[in-house]
Amino acid sequence: MNQEYDCIILGSGIAGLYSAIIAQQYGSVLILTKGNIDDCNTKYAQGGIASAIGPGDSTKYHLDDTLKAGAGLSDIKTVKILTDEGPYRITDLINLGVPFDTIHGDIALAKEGAHRFPRVLHAGGDATGQHIEATLTNQVRQNNITVMEHTLATNLLADSSGIIGVESLGMKDNQKHRFLSNAVILATGGAGHLFRHTTNPPVATGDGVSLAFNAGAQVMDMEFYQFHPTALRLPNAPTFLISEALRGEGALLRNVNGTIFMKHYDDMEDLAPRDIVTRAIVSEMRNTQSDHVNLDITHLPGKKIKNRFPTIYAFCMQYGLDITKMPIPVSPAAHYMMGGVKTTSRGETSLRNLYACGEASCNAIHGANRLASNSLLDTVVFARRVVEQIFHPPKKESNLTLDEDIYLISNEPTALSNIPELSLINLQNMM
Ligand code: FAD
Ligand code: SIN
Repeated sequence: MNQEYDCIILGSGIAGLYSAIIAQQYGSVLILTKGNIDDCNTKYAQGGIASAIGPGDSTKYHLDDTLKAGAGLSDIKTVKILTDEGPYRITDLINLGVPFDTIHGDIALAKEGAHRFPRVLHAGGDATGQHIEATLTNQVRQNNITVMEHTLATNLLADSSGIIGVESLGMKDNQKHRFLSNAVILATGGAGHLFRHTTNPPVATGDGVSLAFNAGAQVMDMEFYQFHPTALRLPNAPTFLISEALRGEGALLRNVNGTIFMKHYDDMEDLAPRDIVTRAIVSEMRNTQSDHVNLDITHLPGKKIKNRFPTIYAFCMQYGLDITKMPIPVSPAAHYMMGGVKTTSRGETSLRNLYACGEASCNAIHGANRLASNSLLDTVVFARRVVEQIFHPPKKESNLTLDEDIYLISNEPTALSNIPELSLINLQNMM
């Protein structure tokens, strides 16, 4: 017999888990995920999550920086939703228990490329994704949400009314199943493994785009794949991300001859938008006939490097590279899918009952180049809007546009059961 749920979510990264946590307040939820619950891009996020909550910053500046990084191809209306609603979703994450790093009791904010202010919240130094994934998984378990791990979604089921469910294959038992629902959310992440060098884990194979496309949904911006400028390039080591936050703390790119080069490419030098830095690195690699350039952070105190970047420090040490003493060989690697399944600002796809959020979706926020640390924010802002659209679609008021209407109902932090006390700071006081 086919099992029926009010909402089926494909994927268990930040998009899948966060939307499940909200959706379970309104109905039954099933998560299907093809690996272990934490096999996803989210777990590997290092730099953090951007939001304009710091002194002197504003959502307007965040919007401007996002549009500039997107090279003129972002949709200003959805970017405004992202930057305006971002601080409220950060409050949600804090309420859910994400342990963002603090300095003297205030949230610590880091700088990354193309952000004009320090506005990137992080956890465990450079282990932001690991903490987010663990916190949300814990909430999913506490709320008894059904999760089927090692279950690959293979097809979307449709009839004349639209999407009606999902067909899946058990990765361990080879069993096929059908699950029915009037709301299927694609939260299947990116597609880095289509490329030889990628920062993504093996589950990132673009399944959501393929499932949706095969079912007849529109996709967009698939030509824009972001290459992160700095992935580790060591013989015998995997393509491991070396966070942009190192450059935010002062690390400098040098070519293999030791020459600092970013000043020749952009006024923002090492903190230029990612696409510009990547192209500059490729150009330097060609000019020096090398397969890498070097990222040098050795001028900072060793203790600071180890405290701020414990994951990167430990990873490089496994391969005999002490980053407090030696420059890090790096080269660009496929990192983030700007395109995806085309959605409205409420996560609706072109197919009835099919929704998408997170890296699998595209609502033209990121344009041709995503601003650093905007992906985790994009995911939580729009995951919540998807769930609202499914369970509480807004009534359109005559003097508001639909987007403004949604915007009004979205601006309160999520109220959930099982929320730990707000332990860090009252974020509202900072805004
Ligand atoms: P994912 O977290 O990738 O989750 C996708 C889920 O879908 C997985 O559980 C996967 O197993 C499942 N799945 C896929 N296909 C199927 C299928 N057919 N059936 C069932 N399940 C399926 N962004 C930032 O904003 N800040 C950062 O600091 C940052 N650092 C990053 C560092 C690294 C190394 C990487 C790789 C990315 C980073 N990003 C960062 C990008 C960000 O992490 C991702 O864009 C974001 O986590 C995507 O979340 P998601 O839930 O959409 O997808
Ligand atoms: C990084 O830490 O450099 C990755 C940040 C991101 O992808 O947004």
